[in-house]
Amino acid sequence: MSEDEILARDTAVHGAATSGEFTLEVLRCNPADPEDRPRWQSFTLELTEGMTLFIALTELRETQDPSLQFDFVCRAGICGSCAMLINGRPGLACRTLIADLPSPTRLAPLPGFALIGDLSVDTGRWMRGMSERLETWVHGLDTERDPARLEAPMEPEVAEAIYELERCIECGCCIAACGTAQMREDFVGAVGLNKLARFHLDPRDARDDGAYFDLVGDDDGVFGCMSLLGCDDVCPKDLPLGTQIAFLRRRMARQAL
Ligand code: SF4
Ligand code: SF4
Ligand code: FES
Repeated sequence: MSEDEILARDTAVHGAATSGEFTLEVLRCNPADPEDRPRWQSFTLELTEGMTLFIALTELRETQDPSLQFDFVCRAGICGSCAMLINGRPGLACRTLIADLPSPTRLAPLPGFALIGDLSVDTGRWMRGMSERLETWVHGLDTERDPARLEAPMEPEVAEAIYELERCIECGCCIAACGTAQMREDFVGAVGLNKLARFHLDPRDARDDGAYFDLVGDDDGVFGCMSLLGCDDVCPKDLPLGTQIAFLRRRMARQAL
């Protein structure tokens, strides 16, 4: 069933909100309070035209409950900080229109990341750990730095292919949708594999397949992936995650022979 068909089915069952009141059920939890237990809290608000989940949550915090925790920075699908489970599916709250959702809609924090509170999780620490582990920076061909040296030209097709994979906003949706990531704490996930595929493309990176195998040639890397492509389904930037994982797996499998 396609995403549109699922939405149409849910809408038929629950009724899409186009005007009037809308109900959000938010999974509340404050891990800083040892007495606090996770619980669903229901909020009702008046729907306005063009209202996104970001606008709705901001209104709730301003008018109903100032203690509600959630993250936003750019409000434009660029920073990746507003990802959450929207009716069980990872997505960006700032890019989700309330009118496209059934009422009530349930919001929960992304699984797979440390919970800060309510809908706010610490994706930053996870992403930094993954980046350090996979060394997601260009490993130069030259050891000596020369500030006067001219930049080396790059073929436009290569630059474009790199740019395509660089569009990752580190939102964490692919990790939240990934069965392996939920079972294996150290799994680098589609976000990590996509980053390595990006450096694999980069002619300025001196690492060979053997060096990449040392980083992801195990069950916490490309061989832990079950290829069910939940990551590919939910990536809000439509990154070609399935293709990149398949590519890396082929290259790493050759190294394992
Ligand atoms: S690969 Fe897609 S889903 Fe995963 S962190 Fe990057 S943008 Fe988000
Ligand atoms: S295809 Fe691999 S990385 Fe993507 S969700 Fe499935 S197990 Fe995770
Ligand atoms: S607030 Fe930046 S992606 Fe949603």
